[in-house]
Amino acid sequence: MELTTAHPQPYDLVVEGGRLVTPDGVRAATLAVRAGRIAALLPPHTPTRAATRIQAAGRHVLPGLIDSHVHFRTPGLTHKEDWAHGSRAAAAGGVTTVIDMPNTRPPLHSTQAAHAKADLIKGTSLVDYRFHMGVAPHTLGELADLDPRVATSVKVFMAGHHTAPDVIHDPATLDRVFATAADRDLRVVLHAEDNTVFRLLDDYLGTPRTYRDYETHRPRSGALIAVARVLDLVRAHGTRAHILHVSSAEECDLLAAAHHAGLPVTFETTPHHLSFTHHDTRRTGARTRISPAIRTQADQDRLWHALTTGELATIGSDHAPHTIEEKTRPPADAPPGLPGVQELLPVVLTGLRRRLPDHPLDDLLTLIATACAARPAELFGLAARKGRIAPGHDADLVVLDTDATWCPTPDTIRSKCGWSAYEGWTLTGRPEITVRRGEIIFDHASGRFGSATGEWLDPAIP
Ligand code: DOR
Ligand code: ZN
Repeated sequence: MELTTAHPQPYDLVVEGGRLVTPDGVRAATLAVRAGRIAALLPPHTPTRAATRIQAAGRHVLPGLIDSHVHFRTPGLTHKEDWAHGSRAAAAGGVTTVIDMPNTRPPLHSTQAAHAKADLIKGTSLVDYRFHMGVAPHTLGELADLDPRVATSVKVFMAGHHTAPDVIHDPATLDRVFATAADRDLRVVLHAEDNTVFRLLDDYLGTPRTYRDYETHRPRSGALIAVARVLDLVRAHGTRAHILHVSSAEECDLLAAAHHAGLPVTFETTPHHLSFTHHDTRRTGARTRISPAIRTQADQDRLWHALTTGELATIGSDHAPHTIEEKTRPPADAPPGLPGVQELLPVVLTGLRRRLPDHPLDDLLTLIATACAARPAELFGLAARKGRIAPGHDADLVVLDTDATWCPTPDTIRSKCGWSAYEGWTLTGRPEITVRRGEIIFDHASGRFGSATGEWLDPAIP
């Protein structure tokens, strides 16, 4: 990327002294912002005039993260999370755009519901946002008419649980969803676990009484069978599919092979599947109980490998808060899910540095910028504006102190649920300043947040 010369007019914001993580490599440069956009990348020490200056010496500057998998619980479940808290957690974690899931009360199943949801959120979000549309067997008609400005993706739950009541499992209905999505050029994002497998096991094994039983009731076979079904449907219809929260080595192998064979499939994993194992679920119980289950060390190792090879397209936080009261119910009643939008970047950086201590830090940060900004922007129609540090793009930035350590505690966690699965961990890497469209929306030093002027984004439709 060519560096340009400074414009004589003052900029709104200048970020100087930092190392910028750009698509063309990590480089020292001054970043100048005007009207919410990156106006220029200038050689270091270029004299500039600016209304606001951020001194980023000793810091890395990454594109603001795009978390394409959050559950901010609006409408209907706001005792767990709301956009004021969720978007603060995002901003404090260096996330500047989120894509929200539809399993709310009522669920998001129509264009009308999306507009109603946007009205509820307006004026409460620090970060920009999009929605994944939901679908139930009785709402298929809505998909056929979906305007891509409302959503370019549809979320399908193939298996149900406490917070996912709308399951598409029946083969004929699933086939129609994939056919409609292909027709409308929608990407299907999937919770790919097989309902029949789980029902059979529940009937056979009875009610789970301890977390030791969790993997027995929700085994990898459920995920693998569902992924195999998805691959058949992708082959039949040419639908683009993105498998969410992949949890096992076998799914990674299968999906990487399918992608290599030319099928339009990609996959995501979560910071939790990269950080915990089934031993943690046995020890901590509901806190690290999520759906799909967290599996073995070998699975976790394969997921990290998939990040470093690029087989894995995205890391989504699957920020799915529940209250402590809900999580401490008996095993059969405690809902799966945990918060994570604030911990996403530090957890992934901490894990990468521990696993790859000899790799240049610049390369590790490039992996994060790719999986947590550039790729989600490409998959969800935002790449013309978001996901990269490049002139003309929105000035969405995170100034990162890669050496600062911190411990998630109920005091440092901004999610309304007020707890973190990483309590007791020391994370390395802390967002110091987060900028969304040129505005400072989080400043660690002062503890201040910016204005709740996050926007419902229009995707760039090709
Ligand atoms: O563990 C999970 N929690 N998995 C999901 O698929 C949904 C989520 C939630 O909404 O709580
Ligand atoms: Zn989720």
